[in-house]
Amino acid sequence: MKMRQGIPLGLAALLAAAALVLSGCQPPKSEPVRPVKIAEGEIDPAAWGKAYPVNYDLWKKTADPTPPGKSKYKRGYDADKITYDKLSEFPYMALLFNGWGFGVEYNEPRGHAYMMKDQIDIDPSRVKAGGVCLTCKTPYAPKLEKEKGQEYYSKPWNEVHAMVPEPHRELGVACVDCHDPKDMSLRISRGFSLGKALESLKVDPAKLTRQDMRSLVCAQCHVTYNIPKDENMKSVGVYFPWQGSKWGNISVENVIRQIRSDPTVGEWKQNVTGFKLAFIRHPEFELFSASSVHWKAGVSCADCHMPYTKVGAYKVSDHRVTSPLKNDLKACMQCHTETSDWLREQVTTIQDRTASLMLRSGYATATAAKLFEMANAAEAAGKKIDKELYVKAKDYYEEAFYRTSFVGAENSVGFHNPTEATRILGDATAFAGKAEGLLRQALAKSGIDVPQVVNLELNKYLDGRGKKKLAFQKAVEIQDPFGVQEKLLTVQHTK
Ligand code: HEC
Ligand code: HEC
Ligand code: HEC
Ligand code: HEC
Repeated sequence: MKMRQGIPLGLAALLAAAALVLSGCQPPKSEPVRPVKIAEGEIDPAAWGKAYPVNYDLWKKTADPTPPGKSKYKRGYDADKITYDKLSEFPYMALLFNGWGFGVEYNEPRGHAYMMKDQIDIDPSRVKAGGVCLTCKTPYAPKLEKEKGQEYYSKPWNEVHAMVPEPHRELGVACVDCHDPKDMSLRISRGFSLGKALESLKVDPAKLTRQDMRSLVCAQCHVTYNIPKDENMKSVGVYFPWQGSKWGNISVENVIRQIRSDPTVGEWKQNVTGFKLAFIRHPEFELFSASSVHWKAGVSCADCHMPYTKVGAYKVSDHRVTSPLKNDLKACMQCHTETSDWLREQVTTIQDRTASLMLRSGYATATAAKLFEMANAAEAAGKKIDKELYVKAKDYYEEAFYRTSFVGAENSVGFHNPTEATRILGDATAFAGKAEGLLRQALAKSGIDVPQVVNLELNKYLDGRGKKKLAFQKAVEIQDPFGVQEKLLTVQHTK
């Protein structure tokens, strides 16, 4: 890997600036601070925009469609106004998540400007947990949580959403979520979620560096979280399962241990197995910070997703937060000397390998799920299933399910930490294989014949999702770069 190395980045920037001066160009400067005072607690981005129009205009651009063909897996939202359906892309997810909202509708992400709109439009089953679903969406979340307390979490989503002032009901992440209006320094606005999670890591907030903050503002939302329920299945809070972990190593093992040891976070019932399970959501911060090469090199989320960019005479952080691929890898070229094509290929190669392992572990887990279905049916029909084997299989199965879900929900398709993603998916496949073996043994003991290839009935789960809410949602070809699915499944899915 060719790096702009030998010189620390700061020094490199200085040298570059000096070179510009020598060559007669004006070095780009940051925007002048305008004499506009932003009130503490001001939520309206337009008010902030009066002071910082360049940043404001870039922020608004997160609504622009992304040019097609730039990213193989994260197509975003193209000019045809289409978002992409994750369940058709990875069909095993339709089987595994069948039983609640994510099995009905699960879309690939698009720009920040759409986060509230997409929640308004999504299948209502996805916001059944209540007001708590607004936590990673509206900049009003901290205020509502503070003022309404318990009601914020448990009241129906519609009612809590209606508490947001009318003109801002579609407003997503805003300046106030990341900045202190006094001096524009970065600030965590969600003390009730990320703040508490950092406490559980025993992180001293006073010791966080500016570079840490350039990742932590994102970690307010790009993390996995649990929604604990009371005995009536009403949401009573939100927390990140980081207990027992350390800064720089929020391991998947600790996350799963926490989830599995807390009976209040069983949020839904998986139809195929009948098990009450928790869920893993977009763990970008966790995967990236688990000693990835870039984390270890001191790179932050903002370095790759908000690179410095020139607007007129000014140099600002690109507030059009998006995939670096959609920005022709300009962010990477701050440090890497290769061409954008070469870098894109590196990313896609990593993602192809990850996607292949996602399929392998996903289908292995789905196969075990179908064997539980067989065992449950046999038991319902009066047959006896060996309890010990069943319980042991369930244990392995849950370990597999959460691991395959972890990487599947993480939005970089492995890029943020390739070796860790590979390790997790390898372990998922191994746990699923263990579960399958034990279940085959249990079923054989009860005289039940299990076919060599278990029919996953994928079409049933994909087609039985009801009427899709988003008219502009598009099905995606299955991502099978190395033909794994074909070999493993002998064509069970006919789309
Ligand atoms: C308030 C919560 C929140 C914060 C803070 C936040 N994000 Fe997001 N981000 C989201 C949500 C929600 C989506 C998905 C939006 C959708 O699809 O409607 C998203 C989408 C994205 C996307 C996909 C964009 C695209 O063009 O498809 C990227 C990249 C991203 N975020 C990176 C970041 C980075 C980097 C940071 C920190 C600088 C950050 N986000 C901070 C909630 C947040
Ligand atoms: C070294 C560069 C780098 C760093 C650091 C980095 N990312 Fe990424 N990220 C990428 C790449 C490359 C992709 C894959 C984009 C694609 O496939 O189009 C990606 C994908 C994503 C996506 C999905 C984008 C989309 O268009 O759907 C999100 C969300 C995201 N990253 C958030 C984060 C967050 C949050 C952090 C910090 C915890 C982070 N990233 C750190 C390079 C980086
Ligand atoms: C998701 C988090 C996030 C949001 C939302 C956000 N910013 Fe920023 N902003 C950043 C980060 C990260 C930096 C880089 C700060 C640093 O390196 O210290 C930054 C830097 C800035 C700077 C310093 C100059 C520069 O560009 O580096 C200004 C001014 C600014 N933002 C204005 C705004 C305004 C105005 C809004 C709302 C329209 C906004 N920001 C929304 C994360 C955010
Ligand atoms: C702030 C600097 C910085 C940015 C931005 C950055 N990288 Fe890196 N990257 C590094 C460093 C440092 C290493 C470690 C190099 C080494 O030790 O040889 C690295 C390593 C890598 C590696 C090898 C990883 C491995 O596991 O061995 C790849 C591939 C890579 N970067 C791709 C990218 C891509 C693609 C982007 C943009 C999406 C990007 N980088 C953005 C600094 C950066």
